[in-house]
Amino acid sequence: MTMETKETNETNKTNKIKETNQILVKAQGLYSIYEGLEGANNVVALRGLNLEMKKGEFVAIVGTSGAGKSTLLRTLGGLQKPSAGSIRYFGRDISRMSENELVPIRRSTIGFIFQEGNLMPELSGFDNVVRTLRYSGVGFSEARKRARTILDRLGMTSRMHDLPHRLSGGEQQRIAIARAISNNPSLILADEPTGNIDAQNTEQVMQLFKELHKELDTAFLIVTHSQHVASFADRSLELSDGMIIGQHGAGSDIYSLEESRSVIISENGTRLEYDIPEEWPETDPVDTLSIILILPAIAVFTIMKRRKYSKNSLFH
Ligand SMILES: Nc1ncnc2c1ncn2[C@@H]1O[C@H](COP(=O)(O)OP(=O)(O)O)[C@@H](O)[C@H]1O
Ligand SMILES: [Mg+2]
Repeated sequence: MTMETKETNETNKTNKIKETNQILVKAQGLYSIYEGLEGANNVVALRGLNLEMKKGEFVAIVGTSGAGKSTLLRTLGGLQKPSAGSIRYFGRDISRMSENELVPIRRSTIGFIFQEGNLMPELSGFDNVVRTLRYSGVGFSEARKRARTILDRLGMTSRMHDLPHRLSGGEQQRIAIARAISNNPSLILADEPTGNIDAQNTEQVMQLFKELHKELDTAFLIVTHSQHVASFADRSLELSDGMIIGQHGAGSDIYSLEESRSVIISENGTRLEYDIPEEWPETDPVDTLSIILILPAIAVFTIMKRRKYSKNSLFH
């Protein structure tokens, strides 16, 4: 290897490290307030929420109904203006942009997948993907070529010319995924993408997310109730009443979140860090103590008993 290629390789390596650590999206102090109609109280759906995602990260959002998950996704995706706060993509604030400025950024940066209603019902799956690409300015034949490649990759070759209503829920979601990834976005925002499909299709769609995440350089932010997704996400964020109240590492069990919660937000929105040790002790200290005390006691007891027995046997 020449000096020069070695240097280039080193530079590529450093660039790559820099790139993977690059902040993709940073939301600060997000508030979303829905005004109550005819004297009804306002609903505060997001309360000063902060969130940061790195390039290529895979993050799950969990939380009960009404917690603010959909509001958060729509706001992050620039579909809805926050009442306060900022949202930066690669450092650029989109929160005050006009719709004209936003449209091209959304198309090039973000892919959306909702629970349902992702497809234009009068167009075939194939044409749905082609249309998305055409909106982004891709030429006609290039769009058709790319749509075919993506749909082949998603296992939809034989069904791509059917209208959406002839497809199963799982197949429709695959077309939706094809549309969402067709522009090679930096971030996929998915709001309960498997909420309307059966368990088997859910598994397949989730497996697909996992594979695509590996293949593409795309970050995923997925609202989910699926343990499967949460278990392969880099981390899960727990949303409650418009605030992130907990963060959980990879592989955490969403049914017992108390056990893995590592960050918690106080009532007034300030962040309190839990003091979690790097590694939990393997054995409970109480168990260790009992072993230290009980084992010698058993040993002494056994020796004494044996002595008594042997003494007795000598005398009889
Ligand atoms: N368009 C709207 N108008 C008024 N209130 C809304 C609207 N959308 C959502 N909300 C309210 O905001 C809160 C959060 O809703 P949402 O973001 O849909 O939560 P989730 O997706 O976690 O179920 C809820 O109290 C909901 O009733
Ligand atoms: Mg929702």
